[in-house]
Amino acid sequence: MIKVALPKGRIGEKALEIFEVFLQEKLCFEDRKLILHKQHFTFMLVRNQDVPVYIQRGVADIGIVGLDVLEEQQSPLVRLLDLKFGKCKVVLGSPNEYLLDFSKPNLKIATKMENITKAFFAKKALSVEIIKLYGSIELAPLVGMADAIVDLVETGNTMRQNNLKIDEVIMEVSAYLVANPNSFYAQKIKILKIRDFFKNMILTKE
Ligand code: PRP
Repeated sequence: MIKVALPKGRIGEKALEIFEVFLQEKLCFEDRKLILHKQHFTFMLVRNQDVPVYIQRGVADIGIVGLDVLEEQQSPLVRLLDLKFGKCKVVLGSPNEYLLDFSKPNLKIATKMENITKAFFAKKALSVEIIKLYGSIELAPLVGMADAIVDLVETGNTMRQNNLKIDEVIMEVSAYLVANPNSFYAQKIKILKIRDFFKNMILTKE
């Protein structure tokens, strides 16, 4: 039995499509159900940020999660494969008309990614004030609550429409296939078979 944690949304749907080809069977969560048993698999539908929790606690053996989440949570999971989809970037951004001045004391940075932000500014030997938010990060500099943001950019539309520019790209992000280290040890052959299948599916799409 392999238990799989999938993130809700497009990335989870894409991963499920690959599992459908792998199992040669239609996979669909009924209505509002969050668990699906098929053949020797159990699929669980969870919030993107919660995927590492399920895997670390061993209730899921493998899962799909964004690199941003892995880096933010410093999750000790086995990174099996870069899936090359769900691509986006973690960026530092600020208002178009604003020349971001790193010498300004206590620059205020709004973000939902506190650890990535801390590590980024620590590397620059700068101390900043981090304002932790849970969403709509782009609003913070518009209303004068922050000087800049560290946030995810996919199409760039949200930043553009809110008159923000990218000052620096901090990290290129994509979805990863990951495993619990104990599960990987105990079910190595099965898990590597899944990894190789995903790898081939991705290569044929490239
Ligand atoms: C994410 C991210 C940006 C937006 C970027 O937010 O935090 O706000 O998507 O996408 P874009 O570059 O394609 O415009 P999400 O939609 O997850 O909502 P949130 O504000 O609740 O974080």
